[in-house]
Amino acid sequence: TERTLVLIKPDGVSRNLSGTILARVEAKGYKLAELKKTAASREQLEEHYAEHVGKPFYEPLVEFMLSGPIVAAIFEGERVIEAFRSLAGATDPVVAAPGTIRGDFGRDWGLKVQQNLVHGSDSVESAEREIAIWF
Ligand code: GTP
Ligand code: MG
Repeated sequence: TERTLVLIKPDGVSRNLSGTILARVEAKGYKLAELKKTAASREQLEEHYAEHVGKPFYEPLVEFMLSGPIVAAIFEGERVIEAFRSLAGATDPVVAAPGTIRGDFGRDWGLKVQQNLVHGSDSVESAEREIAIWF
């Protein structure tokens, strides 16, 4: 069955939203296959965000992801990749629709990075690549 990598970013963990976020994905019907709280290393983040190297938000993004613990999870189920991205909402939490994780819990905090609570893989290929980085 299809798998996706979900990361709860440091803002989600520090705001005590980990359980709330995981509960939404479980309640939607997906299976929590793996779960851990961890501290990201710079090496893991360089691999994870390889596609963004050189973009203006890259360094602030990596610094943000190093700023506190994260939660990494693998969810399983038919079309779970697409489903989680729908649950997460748009990248920018200001415009993410209400009812989504980012739309309900996120805002612009005036920093150089979008503190948008969660990451979700965007394709089968990236899911398998990312799962190997974090598990
Ligand atoms: P992820 O699930 O985290 O990968 O989000 P995404 O797929 O919606 O966004 P993308 O992969 O394009 O970017 C990864 C992360 O970089 C985002 O989640 C944001 O935290 C940050 N980011 C992306 N685009 C921008 C941008 O234009 N400006 C800023 N400041 N941050 C950005
Ligand atoms: Mg992405």
